[in-house]
Order: sequence, then C-alpha cells, then structure tokens
Amino acid sequence: MVPNSLVVAPSILACDFGRLHEEVRRAEAAGADWLHLDIMDGHFVDNISFGPAFVDFVARAATVPLDVHLMIERPDHYFPRFVKSAANITVHVEAQHDVSKTLAAIRAAGRTCGLALRPATPFEAAVPFLDQIDLLLVMTVVPGFGGQPFMPETLPKVQAAQEARTRLGRNFRIEVDGGINDQTAALSREHGADTFVAGTSVFGAPDMAAAVRKVRGT
Ligand code: DX5
Ligand code: ZN
Repeated sequence: MVPNSLVVAPSILACDFGRLHEEVRRAEAAGADWLHLDIMDGHFVDNISFGPAFVDFVARAATVPLDVHLMIERPDHYFPRFVKSAANITVHVEAQHDVSKTLAAIRAAGRTCGLALRPATPFEAAVPFLDQIDLLLVMTVVPGFGGQPFMPETLPKVQAAQEARTRLGRNFRIEVDGGINDQTAALSREHGADTFVAGTSVFGAPDMAAAVRKVRGT
C-alpha cells in the first residue's frame, strides 16, 4: 500500500472573515494543501457557522481543493448545495441519514466522500462504511468550535483506523480535526493520521508558513 501524501488543511473557521479572500491567499502562500470549511447547522452541533454561498465565495479565491465538513443533521438533503465548490464532502455517521446512501450519492456527484466520527463515537461505527469512503475524519475535539484543546483519548481510534485500512487493503485518508498543532499533529501521525486540519494554530501563528510546516512535520 502506498501511504497517502501528508495534507495540511487550514480551517477557514479560524480566519479573519472580514478579509476572507486575503486569508485564503495567505493560507495558500503558507503552503496549505487544502482548505477546510466547517458547516454547522445549530442542531447537530451547538453552533451555526456558514453555508453554501460562503463556500462558493471562498472558491472564487481558492486554487486548492476545498474540504467541506458537514456538521449538520441532514447531510443527505444539503450536500448537493456544496458539490459546486467542494472537492471532498465529509458527513457525520451520527447524523440523521442513511449513511451508505449519502456516501454513494456524494461519489455519484463526482466528489470524494468522507465519514466523520465524534470523539464519543467508537471506531466500530465506521466499519460498515470503510469500503465506501475516501477519507475517515476522526474528530479530536467535540465538534462545534475552533480553539478547543486536543483530546488524546481519540488517538487509539486513529490507530484502529490505520490498522483496519492496512488489514482491508484500503487507502482512505485518515484526517484529524481539532486542536491540531505541531505536537498533536506529530502524535496523530505516529498513530496513522495523514491529513491534518488546523485552524487556530496556523491562522493565529505569527509565521503561518512555519506553522503549516510544523503541522506537516517537515
Ligand atoms: C470543529 C471543527 C474544526 C475546527 C478546528 O468543530 O470541525 O475543523 O475548526 O479548529 P482548531 O484547529 O482551532 O481546533
Ligand atoms: Zn472540521
């Protein structure tokens, strides 16, 4: 199995919305491989962020793939509105939908599909879908807000995902999201993660390019 290349995806939730296009260009100049966009509906998580029109606006300045993370109750109903601008669309296994059907529909729409697990959700919940995904998102904070501390108790789940990927001969990406900085990225990498979402630690850094390099481990 060829291991996946390492990807760093700065989370737009942590940027200065008042200078959105400048922030997109700053993240790309700093070495962002993807940009991560957190969609929150105020039901699945206790926060409301932004929607399809905002993602389309980001896409007007972005030249890297957009990684859309749907923290919403009905991703089956809303994902089509993100197909125009997203490269990857990730849905939560805990949301109110037919997971398998939604994943297949995202791929049928020509986008890669991801499946996300909250910290409290065991890896076993993802097992029925591992042959349908391009990416598994192991949340390393309780979803809903940026700037939270990393939850090390999620690391065994990253490891379980890597072991399952090897055992099954699959090559889905393993993404970690929440409280990711140079130290927690290194820990996550040791356990098998290859895709790193970072908001506060990179957008808040005095030298964003150095922060992105540290998350990537180069
Ligand atoms: C949290 C989001 C994360 C968050 C990451 O619900 O899914 O993507 O924006 O932000 P930091 O890196 O600041 O924890
Ligand atoms: Zn996210």
